[in-house]
Order: sequence, then structure tokens, then C-alpha cells
Amino acid sequence: MTVKTLPALLDKMWKDYVEINPLALKVYDLLSSQGESLLNDHIALRTFNHPRVTIDVIARPFIESGYKYMGDYHFPDKKLYAKHFEHADSSLPKIFISELKLQDFSPELNRIVNRMIEEIPAGKENEFDFVSAGRPWNVTIQDYKDLMKESDYAAWVSAFGYRPNHFTVFINALKNFSELAGLNEYLKANGFKLNSSGGEIKGSKEVCLEQSSTLANNIEVNFNDGKLTIPACYYEFAKRYPMKDGKLYQGFVAASADKIFESTSQGQ
Ligand code: NI
Repeated sequence: MTVKTLPALLDKMWKDYVEINPLALKVYDLLSSQGESLLNDHIALRTFNHPRVTIDVIARPFIESGYKYMGDYHFPDKKLYAKHFEHADSSLPKIFISELKLQDFSPELNRIVNRMIEEIPAGKENEFDFVSAGRPWNVTIQDYKDLMKESDYAAWVSAFGYRPNHFTVFINALKNFSELAGLNEYLKANGFKLNSSGGEIKGSKEVCLEQSSTLANNIEVNFNDGKLTIPACYYEFAKRYPMKDGKLYQGFVAASADKIFESTSQGQ
């Protein structure tokens, strides 16, 4: 079913996300059972810098719905560029969109990605809910493995297409967990595995943002030539601190996000 309004789109994205990421729903249910009402700090989306699907194309439904561009980020190691968007209604999640810089990769990777993007039906990328369209192309297990040789990120997008990579719990709005460390201990005690790349907590009070995340759960994905069990999505947690002017920092910290991207790496 196609959706045409922002609330319907956010709802569709959440339902799709918890369907392929049952671990996130378990965390959500666990915290809800403690009397928490969860607010989303941000939703992260992934794409390529191919002209048909750049960040600015993916951002369109949000811009149309009143979101504004607020900042950009560079990830030289992962060959990524990202922008974040905010809505005047601060109860709405920020939208963080990254794109893989195709010119920094081999002709082989470019051949696979360009072939996938050419298979997107004409104009589909302009539909309001393209960001939750799922995988709009054919991809084989071999394509996935070939992409994986150069970029976890490219392989993830090839398999999952357009859908949230993660949602993020806004810790400041929780009643029982004011510190990320306490929440992390609680989640681990309940059997959840956290991404420990660069330490469980990325960032600090000094940079006004602390983040942690679960490891992505593995799910079986249908490729055009068979099934493969691969990392899907993860759930993130963010605590924001006030800046010198007293306002809560609303941006992102590239050095932290760099490590968070590894939550969907193989073998973690
Ligand atoms: Ni994030």
C-alpha cells in the first residue's frame, strides 16, 4: 500500500523495521514494560551517490513534509557522506541519510551498483514512500559477496534496499534510565548483545552526544538465486547534552557514527 503523508510513512517504516528486526521490537517491548514511552531520536537511511538515488532524492518526502537540512558529515574511511534533517516539531525523529561515494570504489563494484539502480522502475524513486520500498532490484548471492569484498555498506543496501537501517531511542526522554551506561547494563543483563567497536559508548558529554547500539540481528534473506543469512538492522540509543548556549545538541558526531556503521558488519 502506498502512503502519502508523513505520519503514515513513519508508521510504515517502523512496522517494516520491526518486522525484519525482531530484536528491536523485543527491546522496545522490554522498555515499554518498564513504563517507558519511547521517542525516536533519529531514523537512519542508506543509499548510493548515483544521481537517481542521492541523499537529496531520498530526502524529498521529508523536505516536502517540512523537514530542513541541518548539517553534513564525512566518513573518509568508509567512503561515505551524510546529511541530517530536522522538523520544527521536535517530537518527530531527525532523519540521517548517508550515501556511498561510488567514485571511490572499483569498476566492478560500480558495475554491480549501476546495474541494480538501472533496474529501479522509471520514476519509482520519486514516489513519496520510495524510502520504504524495500529492494527495487535483482541481486544474487554472488553480487552480495562481491560487494562485501569492498564495502559492508554496499552489500547491506544491495540486500535490503530502501528501508530504515536503524531507529534510535532518545534516552533523555526515558524515566528510569538517565545514563546510557545503565541502560547498556540492563540490556546486556536481558541477553542483548551490544556493538563494542570503539567501546560500547561512542562519543561523550564533551561532544554533547553519547550513542550505543545493539548488534544487527541476522536474518535469512531471499536473493534471486537462493537464501543467505546476513546481518539486518540494529537498534540505537542516543543521549544528548546541552551546548554552551543551553540548547540540547541536535547534530551527529562523525567519529561515533563511523563505529556505529559497523553494527551491520559480518562476524560481529
Ligand atoms: Ni544513528
